[in-house]
Amino acid sequence: MRFLLGMAVSLAGVVVSVRACASHTDASNFTIAMVRTYPPNWPLPLLSSNWTGITMNISQAVDKAVDLIQEASHENASLVLFPELWFPGYPMGFGDDTNWPTVLLPEYIENCLTVGDGNWARIVDSVVDTGVYVGLGFCDKTTENIFMGQALISPSGDVLIHRHKLRPSGSERDMFSDGTMEMLEVTTTRYGRIGMLECYEHFWPSMTLPMQAQLENIHLAAFPYLVDDSNPQKQWYEGTFVNMAAETHYAVLSGAYVFHTSVGTSWVISPSGEVLTHVGSTVDMDTTPIVYYGVNTTGFDTTATYDVNGEVSWGVVKQIYDGFPSYIPKDPGTFVDFASIPIALEQSGNYNGTPPAS
Ligand SMILES: *[C@@H]1O[C@H](CO)[C@@H](O)[C@H](O)[C@H]1NC(C)=O
Ligand SMILES: *[C@@H]1O[C@H](CO)[C@@H](O)[C@H](O)[C@H]1NC(C)=O
Ligand SMILES: *[C@@H]1O[C@H](CO)[C@@H](O)[C@H](O)[C@H]1NC(C)=O
Ligand SMILES: *[C@@H]1O[C@H](CO)[C@@H](O)[C@H](O)[C@H]1NC(C)=O
Ligand SMILES: *[C@@H]1O[C@H](CO)[C@@H](O)[C@H](O)[C@H]1NC(C)=O
Repeated sequence: MRFLLGMAVSLAGVVVSVRACASHTDASNFTIAMVRTYPPNWPLPLLSSNWTGITMNISQAVDKAVDLIQEASHENASLVLFPELWFPGYPMGFGDDTNWPTVLLPEYIENCLTVGDGNWARIVDSVVDTGVYVGLGFCDKTTENIFMGQALISPSGDVLIHRHKLRPSGSERDMFSDGTMEMLEVTTTRYGRIGMLECYEHFWPSMTLPMQAQLENIHLAAFPYLVDDSNPQKQWYEGTFVNMAAETHYAVLSGAYVFHTSVGTSWVISPSGEVLTHVGSTVDMDTTPIVYYGVNTTGFDTTATYDVNGEVSWGVVKQIYDGFPSYIPKDPGTFVDFASIPIALEQSGNYNGTPPAS
């Protein structure tokens, strides 16, 4: 049922928009501005992890973000989406550079956002001034930890979603602490049900299934940076095809439009798995800092927040649980244990880059 609805919307309702010209509240042309330009004070070209001569500065990242939000608003965008950890920038090379845990990490932490701090308030002010929704990807600093944060802020400045990546990937785990399951939330707006995930969360059922069970209409996917598959320097996980494939599966199973952005690469996938737009990493980021795409949201049904008879439902989860191969012990292992790295250790200048056993 949900699947058929998604199909119908995708066939009847797509409105291609390179330059939006609807008002911010035009539900038939809800235009999302996908930021694909780089944050200031970040190694370039794409894939570089050379921080020599770079001084991180969160205030300058917020200045650039405010300019981008204003530009998108002038183009009549309704929602501005930033890549993962755009504030203050993805920590390129953390796993490879011995300078990171002792020298760069304390500086990085100084340049994270804390919800409610002065830089956060400047972003919220620009949201309220322009009347757009904003989807943020940021290093979220609390008194205890840093997290890979995402937030959806409404045009009136309310925080509709605030979450942390459930299980940071690879060497991210040596820097960022884990999120929690209740942060996998979908929120109802007047333009549809909206949810967010970041990066490799799109691959793992512990993160995708709780989201897909909640019947999103618009899914916001933030990756840090991606390059075209033809780039010979890339690692397998930094390319386009593998990630677009995961998000295509996500779109079909959830029935949502998937809006993907990352530094360098943006795309949109329909609920039936069509790639509606795609701008790759060879397109100049200064001349094309933002990619716009509008969808007709008027047919979205926000009354249902779950479907007990859906493909992603408790019945299906229970079937997996009951049918899990019987010869495999029901041993939870340590893989999903909550991981927390004390911020005091990370700021000390003496962190050896390996999280203490919890
Ligand atoms: C949506 O925006 C696009 C691009 O500006 C425009 O071509 C189209 O006419 C708009 N559609 C509506 C229904 O306003
Ligand atoms: C934005 O929308 C307004 C009102 O519909 C229209 O006059 C203006 O041309 C649009 N701007 C752009 C850049 O499309
Ligand atoms: C890193 O950047 C610095 C400053 O631009 C430059 O001098 C140095 O050669 C670069 N190192 C590498 C390995 O590219
Ligand atoms: C960050 O940049 C602003 C100007 O854009 C400057 O006023 C401020 O001193 C800088 N912060 C640091 C820590 O260098
Ligand atoms: C938007 O979709 C509705 C159906 O939900 C349709 O009636 C309307 O014509 C569509 N508008 C545009 C501009 O495509």
